[in-house]
Amino acid sequence: MDKIIIEGGKTQLKGEVIIEGAKNAVLPLLAATILPTEGQTVLKNVPILSDVFTMNNVVRGLDVTVHFNEAENEVTVDARGDILDVAPYEYVSKMRASIVVLGPILARNGHAKVSMPGGCTIGSRPIDLHLKGLEAMGAKIEQTGGDITATADRLKGANIYMDFPSVGATQNLMMAATLAEGTTTIENAAREPEIVDLANLLNKMGASVTGAGTENLTIIGVDKMHGAEHSVVQDRIEAGTFMVAAAMTNGDVLIKDAVWEHNRPLISKLREMGVEVTEEEAGIRVVSNLDHLKPVTVKTMPHPGFPTDMQAQFTALMAVVSGESTMIETVFENRFQHLEEMRRMGLNSEILRDTARIHGGLPLQGAQVMSTDLRASAALILTGMVAEGTTIVGKLTHLDRGYYKFHEKLAQLGANIRRVNGDS
Ligand code: UD1
Repeated sequence: MDKIIIEGGKTQLKGEVIIEGAKNAVLPLLAATILPTEGQTVLKNVPILSDVFTMNNVVRGLDVTVHFNEAENEVTVDARGDILDVAPYEYVSKMRASIVVLGPILARNGHAKVSMPGGCTIGSRPIDLHLKGLEAMGAKIEQTGGDITATADRLKGANIYMDFPSVGATQNLMMAATLAEGTTTIENAAREPEIVDLANLLNKMGASVTGAGTENLTIIGVDKMHGAEHSVVQDRIEAGTFMVAAAMTNGDVLIKDAVWEHNRPLISKLREMGVEVTEEEAGIRVVSNLDHLKPVTVKTMPHPGFPTDMQAQFTALMAVVSGESTMIETVFENRFQHLEEMRRMGLNSEILRDTARIHGGLPLQGAQVMSTDLRASAALILTGMVAEGTTIVGKLTHLDRGYYKFHEKLAQLGANIRRVNGDS
């Protein structure tokens, strides 16, 4: 098993970094490629990540042709002809996000069988909102033997109110509604930039989706859809991770082509701390001086609130800013496991239910630590850059799900970091 080894303490990141297409955007976009019965779909700016390979396999498993040209970051999908309607456990169990194929398969085939996604370390992550929405559109749902079976001759437009603005449920229902008979409205919909990106692709495919980016979506069903070309939106979480990395290391880093609007909640908290964040023609520049930073309180919320996917990395920043910072995690109930690992590096923090109090600015020492989930792995690597001595981060399968060449990008900015295979 690979490990990342960091010699920390004096790291100061400087330079420019390039950001990939967003993992959380491309996964539902790949699910949407199932919908067209005419033409091919070409997705550009596709990141080379293990989750993308998994989603490609989910789509291939439906008898759809998927070609990933990694050199060009381009995926071409041909879903013409009959497609199968079963997404097997083998893939769904690997990646919870594959549940977003349920809506498109059902909409296209009138029948879909998808394995229940399994447990997840960051929380229980039910899919009741996905299923209730499909039922409102006339689907008959059965759950047996670990599988969800959904049936509807043709889905019917419905008015759906979501108890919580779930990202995955919004995507699933939005895709299902594109081929439904009549109009669907989704109230209290998720507003993430990845939802807007999906709506943009669906509209290029001939769908009629309005309101994406607001809490009210309207989808007028169409009879058929066609292939389209689309470039995946930049990864705001990867960009945010490098912003935090710069802030933690007294850095001066230009995050190229990062989208200001998508990172506004993070930027606002960085600025409140005293980090200099400026918009330039080429991207977002982050300049930091740790001696001048103040502790802050952050609460994760659905977009446009502070993203839960930046919570772990931001706690790493809180750990190096003198004084007591508070992090409140309201989206997932068990997303503080990285703090336990960071304790091994000398972090002083207390967790009470959804609130972590972090006593920052105390000396941190390198240690051997283990990633517990995707964003936790990034947080541990960032902490390793500022901790004195050697940090070894294991279980990189999490990191590879969402960061492309993370250690190489950090090394280019000046970090002393390398990746070795387990036997080295
Ligand atoms: C997506 C992102 C993930 C991010 C999360 C929240 C992808 C591939 N993943 O995950 O990185 O952390 O949004 O921004 O885009 N919930 C229910 N019932 C449901 C669905 C969700 O109760 O049917 C709850 C979940 O348990 C969780 C909360 O809603 O507490 C947020 O989940 P959701 O927005 O659905 O996240 P995902 O789409 O799974």
